[in-house]
Amino acid sequence: MHHFNYRDGSLFAEDVDLRQIAAEVGTPVYVYSSATIERHYRLFAAAVKANAPAGTAHVFYALKANGNLGVLKTLAALGAGVDTVSEGEVRKALAAGFPPEKIVFSGVGKSESELRFAVGAGIYQVNIETEGELDLLSRVAASLGKRQEAVFRVNPDIGAGGHAKITTGSSENKFGVSFEEVGRLYARAANMEGVRIMGLALHIGSQIRETDSFEAAYVKMATLVGTLRAEGHRVERLDLGGGLGIPYEIPQDFNNRDFDYGPDLIEAYAAMVGRVTKGLDVELGFEPGRLIVGNAGILLTRVLYLNPRPTKQFLVVDAAMNDLMRPAMYEAYHEIWPVSEPAADASRIAYDVVGPVCESGDTFTTGRVLPEQKPDDLIAFMTAGAYGASMASTYNQRLLVPEVLVKGGQFAVTRPRQSYEELLGTDRAPPWLA
Ligand code: LLP
Repeated sequence: MHHFNYRDGSLFAEDVDLRQIAAEVGTPVYVYSSATIERHYRLFAAAVKANAPAGTAHVFYALKANGNLGVLKTLAALGAGVDTVSEGEVRKALAAGFPPEKIVFSGVGKSESELRFAVGAGIYQVNIETEGELDLLSRVAASLGKRQEAVFRVNPDIGAGGHAKITTGSSENKFGVSFEEVGRLYARAANMEGVRIMGLALHIGSQIRETDSFEAAYVKMATLVGTLRAEGHRVERLDLGGGLGIPYEIPQDFNNRDFDYGPDLIEAYAAMVGRVTKGLDVELGFEPGRLIVGNAGILLTRVLYLNPRPTKQFLVVDAAMNDLMRPAMYEAYHEIWPVSEPAADASRIAYDVVGPVCESGDTFTTGRVLPEQKPDDLIAFMTAGAYGASMASTYNQRLLVPEVLVKGGQFAVTRPRQSYEELLGTDRAPPWLA
């Protein structure tokens, strides 16, 4: 479920009319619903906690999905932990108020300075992905007089996901150490002064809408826990990654928004985890990103022009691929809702919805049947809360889009639109051309 609904003929985010946000902040603009973020976090956390022994399931929100300060503070206030993949993300998590002991640091290519910063900050866990990183982490932590708790990210050779570019768990993918190597690395790490290996991690992919592939990978991990323990290693933690998918397709009946966002899948996933890890005696970690914020955000954009052609009708909007990259990059589908509630008998037209960027790839959708649009109309790309603003760029020297957080009847700009001074001001001319 989410909190974007029609009221009095207009689309609202909770109790705020999107027309008001467009008028005050301008378009394009990302709008997030606090209530949806809270609902999804609570649903997920309650489900995984109900299926694990008390106090042993921990949720680390994957910050890469949406790093907006307002979103992060909302989640920190709910008691969430956070999964990070760069020094910038660790810094952002700290700035948002996540305590260091709730921060996990993942990622295939952490640099020495990034590890130094994270270890120095006192974070909970580093997810190690290569032998080289193990050596470096131990050296860095020892030089700081610390022993960093860490786990090995294992590549289970089971990949899944909504698109090849977001599948990570196959042995063809760059992520993690192989099953065969873990025992040897564990044994090596036992003699290192800067690390304490606490267990294992995995993450098989993203936008996964069934539980079978998770189950297959988790069963393999549970077996590996047994093997490692038999070899005398300590395995106290199992970080099961993120990846649970969300519905992007919403029924196209503009006058009936009464659908739900599949708590069934969350329940089925949590029950499966409970079954597979029963009696394993480990602390569980989860790293959901999209599931928490995906349906909690929209990208609000304005129609600039119609461009009728003999064979099609282009709808040119003021948002572009640099603002919401998912359709261009993964052929991702986003529902499009007009902000003015269409009459039941409104005429419908098939549109190619495109942005202003100078590439044909700057196409959000082709042949989408929508209520007839005209210049200045507002439309919303739905389900844009995850990997929307966080993947935006300034391609074509376009300003980064502002972000707004709604809570009930209030809204706040939690990231103002970038200014042209900010966009252009960081460039430097070389001395020979100055
Ligand atoms: N943990 C790790 C180690 C990850 O690499 C990821 C996502 C997550 C957790 C969170 O996964 P989620 O629960 O959000 O599926 N830009 C793509 C998605 C890339 C996901 C990358 N890793 C998209 O827009 O679909």
